[in-house]
Amino acid sequence: MTQARDPGPLTLAAPTVLVVDDERNIRRTLEMVLTGEGYRVLEADRAETALDLIGNPAQPVDVAIIDLKLPGMSGLEALQRLKSDEATRDLPVIVVSGHATVHDAVTAIKLGASDFFEKPLNRERILVSVRNSVRTAHLSRAVEQLRGELEARYEMIGTSAPMQRLFQDIDKVAPTKASVLITGESGTGKELVSRAIHRLSPRKDAPFVKVNCAAIPRELIESELFGHERGSFTGAQGRKRGFFEQAHGGTLFLDEIGDMDLAAQAKVLRARQNGEIVPVASDQ
Ligand SMILES: Nc1ncnc2c1ncn2[C@@H]1O[C@H](COP(=O)(O)OP(=O)(O)OP(=O)(O)O)[C@@H](O)[C@H]1O
Ligand SMILES: [Mg+2]
Repeated sequence: MTQARDPGPLTLAAPTVLVVDDERNIRRTLEMVLTGEGYRVLEADRAETALDLIGNPAQPVDVAIIDLKLPGMSGLEALQRLKSDEATRDLPVIVVSGHATVHDAVTAIKLGASDFFEKPLNRERILVSVRNSVRTAHLSRAVEQLRGELEARYEMIGTSAPMQRLFQDIDKVAPTKASVLITGESGTGKELVSRAIHRLSPRKDAPFVKVNCAAIPRELIESELFGHERGSFTGAQGRKRGFFEQAHGGTLFLDEIGDMDLAAQAKVLRARQNGEIVPVASDQ
């Protein structure tokens, strides 16, 4: 059997451990051991009481140590309830038992217990397990919070290093007037990136105009982009504002620009460089 490794002292402020056991002596012992290490300890002699305590938001529990055999609801059932409830699913639960079978241990771990110990309890092992559980719970809470903040800001999912770099790039270009070329394989979120750039830019209250370049027939692309004057070609009724004009002061997203006719791309480039557009058949 491998020796449990002590991950070192906790740097977090007094985490709370809930000890659930019907034997008063066990509760006393665990309380002494845990408070000696700086934990706050709550106690319950029944699973029902424990669930009530865990459900109390005024007194958040960081780790629960639950005995398998309890009067009333069993430790396994309490574990099952905790793990099937969204609100308590992430609470680390250490299961302990006086007369455990391998089957009990396997069941507990399958249900999501962080650890399983047989009585008599080994002080060091329990402490290491509690410490690891607290650490893991704090880390996953921190990741969840970060994830929530990122998702709200960019409306995109992802905490991996490449996504972090992408978010940094978005932050860098959003405040500027630079043209941005977004490349990536199909479905990798290019459109989401374009919308995030717009949303985080000073142009956010002006229009975001998306143009599907691949869907516009080649002979119409110029008038669609730059607009046209009345009667400029057969069927041109009235003056038309092009996409550039519609996006004035905002963001123009030229989706699939690679599929745009090359001559039209050259005109887009010129419009970009000069910051000017001339509608078809117009002298203005
Ligand atoms: N990071 C992400 N978080 C959440 N949803 C995402 C993410 N990336 C992509 N998606 C989703 O995947 C789908 C494709 O994204 P999007 O249309 O932005 O990709 P695209 O690169 O423009 O794809 P295509 O090349 O097919 O046009 C969308 O439903 C989008 O919401
Ligand atoms: Mg796309």
